[in-house]
Order: sequence, then C-alpha cells, then structure tokens
Amino acid sequence: MIEIAPSILSADFAHLADQVSLATKGGAAVVHVDVMDGHFVPNITIGPVVVKWLRKATQLPLDCHLMIENPDQYIPDFAQAGANWISVHQEACRHLDRSLQLIKSLGCKAGVVINPATPVETLSEVLDIVDYVLVMSVNPGFGGQKFIRNALAKMQRLSQLRRERGLNYRIEVDGGVDLQTVGEVVRAGAEILVAGNAVFGSGDPASNVRGLLQAAQEATLQRA
Ligand code: DX5
Ligand code: ZN
Repeated sequence: MIEIAPSILSADFAHLADQVSLATKGGAAVVHVDVMDGHFVPNITIGPVVVKWLRKATQLPLDCHLMIENPDQYIPDFAQAGANWISVHQEACRHLDRSLQLIKSLGCKAGVVINPATPVETLSEVLDIVDYVLVMSVNPGFGGQKFIRNALAKMQRLSQLRRERGLNYRIEVDGGVDLQTVGEVVRAGAEILVAGNAVFGSGDPASNVRGLLQAAQEATLQRA
C-alpha cells in the first residue's frame, strides 16, 4: 500500500495544525517530522515539544526522522511526546542495534535511515528487526533539494532482499519526491513517500497530496 507522508519541514510553522489538517484532507497517511540538531546535519529544526503539540492536533501517526547525533539520549523524549514511528541514521549510531531495540522497547515502530553515500549492505544485520527502512534521496538537512538517483537502485535492492530473506519491513523514501519523480520511486519499490516541498511549497496542500497519491497509485500498476 502506498502512503504519502508530508514533511512539515516545508510547512508554515506558525500554522502547523492547519497545514497538517489540509494535508490530511488530501489523503496523507503519516506526518513526517524532521528533527535536526545542527551537528549531524547543518540545520536546526524542532524537538519533542513540537511533537507533543502535534500529537494533540492530529490522529495520524507521527514519523519522527532523527537527524541528530547521539539519538539514544533523545529517543525516550520523542516516544513520550507521542511519536509513533522513530527512525535513526545508520551513520549517527555507534550501536545501531541498541538504538533500534530502544525504539521498539518504547512501543514505537523502528526505522533505520541511510544517506545517499551509504550502501544498503551496511544494514544487513538489522533488516530483520526494523519496521521500515528510509532511503534518503537527498543529503539530509534541507527541503526542496534535487532528487539523487542512486536511491532508486537502493530501493530495488531492499525489495529484493526482503523477498529473498522473507522479511516484511516497509520501504520509505525521503527527498526530492514530487510529480516528476513519484512514478520512478514507486516503481523502484517505495511504499511510504515523504514529500515536503511538493506538498507545502506552493498551492493547496490538500490537492498537492491528492495529486501525488494519484500519480503514485497509477505507477503501482506498472510496478514489476
Ligand atoms: C531532508 C528531510 C526531508 C525533507 C524532504 O533532510 O529529511 O524530509 O523535508 O523535503 P523535500 O520533499 O522538499 O525534498
Ligand atoms: Zn525526513
């Protein structure tokens, strides 16, 4: 099943609840929350306090993408604030298995994220414990960047490995997903599509989500 996860990074932060409810009206299934610390990535965004208020503003699952150093220190705060899904970067975790187990022990779905330069093979020992794998199709830190095409082969590889190993993690893609790229990412195997600029950058977030969802659903028909 294809789901659109609007990234609030490109939303109007002074009207977050309204922006999320517009995206929900258009068929958004998950709210993607980009957490940046100014160390792991060169930008600073939001923390658990925003998650706490978002939790009261929407029924949708909150997908917290932690682009931070030392995520173990903050995972419990995000879970406590109401995060439903929490993902950590392979590149930021010294003890990746421990971080993923921590997320699961707090009752959240656990995801692992890889940057454009990180191979899928680095995840071989954790694929059986994650609920989802997030493939970055831009270098993390900012919205509105150009899609990096090597993500496509990585998603294909993740679908293949899932089949071969009989696993059931979901495949999420993040960065540069718009009406131009949505078909390709879906055909490559992406199931959860993060979109920031394409949803909140201009126009009506509800119809933007609707348009992406429709294009994604058409592309599933052509999926191998
Ligand atoms: C980038 C973030 C993304 C970003 C995607 O560091 O992880 O979630 O908001 O934005 P777009 O869809 O604009 O590329
Ligand atoms: Zn993200």
